[in-house]
Amino acid sequence: MGVYALVPAAGMGKRMGASINKQYLQLAGKPILAHTLAVFEQAAFVAGIYLVIPEDEIAYCRAEVVERYRLTKVRRIVAGGKERQQSVLNGLRAMEGTAADDVVLIHDGVRPFVPEEVLCRAAEMAREADGALVAVPAKDTIKVVENGVITATPPRESLWLAQTPQAFRYAVIRAAHEVADAERFLGTDDAMLVERLGREVRIVMGDYRNIKITTPDDLLLAGAFLRERATPVPH
Ligand code: CTP
Ligand code: MG
Repeated sequence: MGVYALVPAAGMGKRMGASINKQYLQLAGKPILAHTLAVFEQAAFVAGIYLVIPEDEIAYCRAEVVERYRLTKVRRIVAGGKERQQSVLNGLRAMEGTAADDVVLIHDGVRPFVPEEVLCRAAEMAREADGALVAVPAKDTIKVVENGVITATPPRESLWLAQTPQAFRYAVIRAAHEVADAERFLGTDDAMLVERLGREVRIVMGDYRNIKITTPDDLLLAGAFLRERATPVPH
């Protein structure tokens, strides 16, 4: 039973508002996407990486990220779709030769700080349960609001913030995506497509630093995380 990464990176980065797609912005002299892929490259238990990129960026990404940073585990680079869900489905369909019981770690291309240990926990849980979702407990109180008025305050203990990876056995997630596609159901994450089939997706503890780089504020945070890593421990 192998473990594979599927990395959707075919968005437009609109909320970042940069002149280039956010995943090519540099952190410590290296594109964000290269940082993310390097985590999987270094994790010995990951057998291969499938990368999903906007069609017109495939050649650029192959040269400037995959080849330049010697990401030798990247098996295929496939074109994405309009929504993230379609990009993931394209990636799943491109994973020829994947066995039903192989585990797929679906991970956003713009979450470069995921610890290897979190990948490992998610992959292990996906072998036992129908799926595993990496998440962290909500720190803030979350309100449900309709037309500017609070309609509910769910108990904080029951609220978790979804991150990635979300991990599943290949047959489970491929089927869930194919069903959603056939029914034209658009979910907000991969786990939701499995949940709606009545299957059990379990939570795996994530990391507050496993942020999705979405807006310019996130770049400031990313810089701070990297600076701390680079600072030698005093002794
Ligand atoms: N993604 C994708 N295909 C899409 C949309 C998003 O593969 N059609 C990927 C993004 O590249 C990113 C991840 O899904 O790695 C999480 O999405 P998000 O942070 O929303 O990225 P973007 O869609 O690029 O950003 P924005 O929504 O601000 O345009
Ligand atoms: Mg988006």
